[in-house]
Amino acid sequence: MLQPTFLTGKLHDMGIRSWRTELVLDRYAQLVQSLSSHYDPNDTNMSYNEQVQESVKDYFINSVKQAGVEYAYLLRHLPQVEKWAKKLLNLYPQADEDVVLCGVWSHDIGQVIGDKETDHAINSEIEIKRFLTEQGAKPDFIDKVEHCARSHRCKDVQPSSLEAKILAVADSASHMTDTVYLDMFSRGDYDSALGKLERDYRDVGIFPEL
Ligand SMILES: [Fe+2]
Repeated sequence: MLQPTFLTGKLHDMGIRSWRTELVLDRYAQLVQSLSSHYDPNDTNMSYNEQVQESVKDYFINSVKQAGVEYAYLLRHLPQVEKWAKKLLNLYPQADEDVVLCGVWSHDIGQVIGDKETDHAINSEIEIKRFLTEQGAKPDFIDKVEHCARSHRCKDVQPSSLEAKILAVADSASHMTDTVYLDMFSRGDYDSALGKLERDYRDVGIFPEL
């Protein structure tokens, strides 16, 4: 990186010594100093949990791709959930964003991994624990993400943390801005579609301001 002293010297050598040049170089020197204090070539600018989050996202996408075309809807669903989760994170900045976004990308992994007879929220919980442990995530972080996935259906386990509530609401809201009900109607699953709509409407009510 060019140093301001080098530039200043060069300009002075060239006879360019106006107050404007000095002002610009002063500002440049401040910028270099400020940037240098933050610059670490080994730093990827990602926190540890952000790196875990990226791993979860990659793992989920690869798992869905390997699971086959019948699960392709998840590749559309997850970005929708992420969009709603980020909207809610703006409303609730005290929530742990890393936990929420890991939950977003992993909460439906149980649809493509695990026993088909078991609730996918349970399968997701098991798979998240296995994957995040393998990634070396901290036990406390794993517990929080696990709870998000386990409770996202607001069924037998209710979301108790703010992060889990955000995921549950984001998941339900995403169904309303996607084609989920129409897809079910088009398959003739009228009762299932109406039941799902009612549950989603109930769960979005966790945050009445939505
Ligand atoms: Fe979902």
